Amino acid sequence: MSSARIFSRIIGTGSYLPGEPVTNHDLVARGINTSDEWIVERTGIHARHLAPEHVSCSDLALEASRRALVAAGKEPGDIDLVIVATSTPDFIFPSAAALLQDKLGIRNGAAAFDVQAVCSGFVYALAIAEKFIRSGSHRCALVVGAEVFSRILDWDDRGTCVLFGDGAGAAVLAASDEPGILATAIHADGSHSGILSVPGQICGGKVIGRPFLQMEGQAVFKFAVRVLKEVAEEVLAQAGLSVVDIDWLIPHQANVRIINATAKKLALPAEKVIVTVGHHGNTSAASIPLALDEAVRAGRIERGDTLLLEGVGGGFTWGATLLKF
Ligand SMILES: CC(C)(COP(=O)(O)OP(=O)(O)OC[C@H]1O[C@@H](n2cnc3c(N)ncnc32)[C@H](O)[C@@H]1OP(=O)(O)O)[C@@H](O)C(=O)NCCC(=O)NCCS
Repeated sequence: MSSARIFSRIIGTGSYLPGEPVTNHDLVARGINTSDEWIVERTGIHARHLAPEHVSCSDLALEASRRALVAAGKEPGDIDLVIVATSTPDFIFPSAAALLQDKLGIRNGAAAFDVQAVCSGFVYALAIAEKFIRSGSHRCALVVGAEVFSRILDWDDRGTCVLFGDGAGAAVLAASDEPGILATAIHADGSHSGILSVPGQICGGKVIGRPFLQMEGQAVFKFAVRVLKEVAEEVLAQAGLSVVDIDWLIPHQANVRIINATAKKLALPAEKVIVTVGHHGNTSAASIPLALDEAVRAGRIERGDTLLLEGVGGGFTWGATLLKF
């Protein structure tokens, strides 16, 4: 007897940015040796949000998740898989996902774990959740990207501190008779770990190494544009689609110049690209679900649209998800 094929669909999204926006001018006023003009010209970033000290990764994840659950018409008890993509979890352990599960009041023993793939974390988490659902082992996943990158920034390093911000985005992914997610691809190449890293650890109660983000900006830029084009083409080929079939590209929101260069390489018109980095900076694993949710709530993305989500980040990691919304 053959069973019907199981697909997975995003049935609701949510996002959350903590506090008031901190503008480029605010950073200058705080004594950072930069200018609004430099930041906007190089990155397209005008502002970012910074979580207060008592607010953790799982707190941001909680707000985004609550909104996604409402949008999906689901209760916390309907969730049987919680995945949080983050590089800035509350603790070494338990995972932010386990803490989120508790904060949401999920008491059904749902599996909960974090995925650490830096800025590609959300597409990694989505690819994992999709496979769990397609296998039939799980029915309804909460997939979250949540970060407090402000905690790992060296505020004396103007080359990096102006680029990042805090935030969270979430999607509820449910089993469905119809697709849904059409294709996923995730990749890594650890030989490039040195160009973007936070090379610190805790040992014997002390911080060993340097617990701040460091980056070779130009090397990251070139690598990002190349792999974002390649992985987009990879998922399109998997699904038997081409660039003209894409209604919306939702790239990792690191930098307007990387986004524009990628769209140009793909020959995708700028009107089909969701860009939100200007008002929240690079929120790492949170950026794709944040951009997705904002575009959904603004009525730009509609049910039935074909979306290409793609990210790249430290590791180096990269990946993409092609889906029918
Ligand atoms: C970071 C990035 C914006 C820097 O732009 P760039 O054109 O490569 O700039 P450089 O690092 O070469 O620095 C150029 C000059 O600007 C200065 N500068 C750096 N940060 C500055 C800031 N915040 N404000 C003002 N000047 C700054 C540098 O000191 C340098 O000055 P110098 O020429 O006198 O030495 C760019 O490399 C980039 O976007 N990289 C990708 C970053 C990214 O998205 N990372 C995350 C990926 S997941």
